[in-house]
Amino acid sequence: MKISRKNFLRLSGLASLGMMMGSSKSKSGSNTAISRPFSQQFNMHGYAAPKLDAVRIGFIGIGDRGTGNVARYASIEGVEVKALCDPVASRVDASLSFLKRDLPRHKPDSYTKGPDDWRQVCDRSDIDMVVIATPWHLHARIAVYAMEQGKHVYTDLPVGITLEECWQVVETSERTRRHVYMDCSNCHGGISAVILNMVRQGYFGDIIHAEGHYIHDRIYNNQSRWYRNPENNYFFGYRPWRLQENVNRNGNLYPGHGLGPLSQMLDLNYGDQMDYMVSISGNDFSMGDKMREMAEIDDYYRPYVGLKFRGNMNTTIIRTHRGRTIMLQHDISSPRPGHRFELISGSKGIYRAQPSRIATSEHGWLPQEEYDALVEKYTPEITKRFTGKVNQADSRRTTGGSYSRVSPADWRLIDCLRNGLPLEVDVYDGALWSSISPLSEWSVAREGTSVKVPDFTRGAWRTNKRGMDISLREGGSTNLV
Ligand SMILES: NC(=O)c1ccc[n+]([C@@H]2O[C@H](COP(=O)([O-])OP(=O)(O)OC[C@H]3O[C@@H](n4cnc5c(N)ncnc54)[C@H](O)[C@@H]3O)[C@@H](O)[C@H]2O)c1
Repeated sequence: MKISRKNFLRLSGLASLGMMMGSSKSKSGSNTAISRPFSQQFNMHGYAAPKLDAVRIGFIGIGDRGTGNVARYASIEGVEVKALCDPVASRVDASLSFLKRDLPRHKPDSYTKGPDDWRQVCDRSDIDMVVIATPWHLHARIAVYAMEQGKHVYTDLPVGITLEECWQVVETSERTRRHVYMDCSNCHGGISAVILNMVRQGYFGDIIHAEGHYIHDRIYNNQSRWYRNPENNYFFGYRPWRLQENVNRNGNLYPGHGLGPLSQMLDLNYGDQMDYMVSISGNDFSMGDKMREMAEIDDYYRPYVGLKFRGNMNTTIIRTHRGRTIMLQHDISSPRPGHRFELISGSKGIYRAQPSRIATSEHGWLPQEEYDALVEKYTPEITKRFTGKVNQADSRRTTGGSYSRVSPADWRLIDCLRNGLPLEVDVYDGALWSSISPLSEWSVAREGTSVKVPDFTRGAWRTNKRGMDISLREGGSTNLV
């Protein structure tokens, strides 16, 4: 009998373990995340689902990000907003009012009856894709159920918070042949699209090392992060569920923003693959103090006083099979400017962000004019086409908060679905990028012991064709409305 991964887990009694690390040692002495005994059911990399003239969407989770998701996707040609779901009815109502005022062709139904109402959205036969922007612990559950009902899935990061969830999402996608697209920073636009183009055209030579972070001060500003808003269900900027995620978990809890672009520059899942990683966290130097400070102001925070929070700084180092290295950092509680896609270093040159600069020798960074000329020369077709679409659309599409501005990634996702093209970010990318969180937690808990990174493609990375078509060989026809 062929042993499927599910049966293997059941037989080995590992299915209930969130982390699922084997105790076996590989040649390199690393601990092994279970991944090898199972073969791919179907390769979703490069898979093109039948094209959709209209992309009918149900939105699940209409909070901060979800509100923006509705505004952005409703502004893309071919999208029909069919359902808005959130147990907090006022949030759904606010998005309904926005659509009624600004984009009245959308007339979605509301689902606000409770925490399981999202199932009704997934059960509808007139919906093609669900867009998930709920707290993290619901992403995998909703994604799997939605795919079982024949829906494609967009999820804000991560696809799952345990390895088991990441595997469930991958396996369900392969079995149902439904796409899973995880949105995070990636190479669809901005400087990362330019640098990806330069990487591919050999400007930096062989890529040796890359760095990407989630450094984002989410605690120091009490007004925007901690004061609860009685007019908005007592939500606060840090988010109640997100505060909880930062208790008793210690690792890189949000690797996707930094890692997405690097993965595409290193051809991970199509040409190279992560092999193993180590992760170390320092102590918490600010969350404990912040909880004591806030408890003096608001009793809500009293239960958080004295709890153990993840360390301020987590550093994770990954080695790929082709011998390249990646460094990821996570720090959301220190007062410092934000960092995401940070550095790409090759045998012929280096790019570093903040400020963006390029060097090709030890003698310093290129002058600004030379840097600007390189950016212009290497701006890829995807950026040019998207910019043209933005310019054709009315000015509202280019103003407002960043969450409500259509991004090149949003546009290309809908464009691929409408043209029947493979997605630029597929389920293996989402699972790989998400898996760094549980793997880092495991390594941190063992003083930085190295751990194998599961290969969600199960060997297909060796032959998979390159993803991320920044030259737009196909598609690119969708407009903004
Ligand atoms: N890509 C980005 O730039 C970006 C930015 C912000 C947030 N995010 C991600 O978006 C997601 C949501 O974050 P947020 O900041 O909007 O949080 P939020 O708390 O503002 O929104 C979450 C919403 O989910 C709703 N919800 C909770 N349980 C639900 C259920 N059972 N069914 C339906 N809805 C439910 C909540 O009521 C809330 O309105 C997270 O994954 C976060 O990491 C991504």
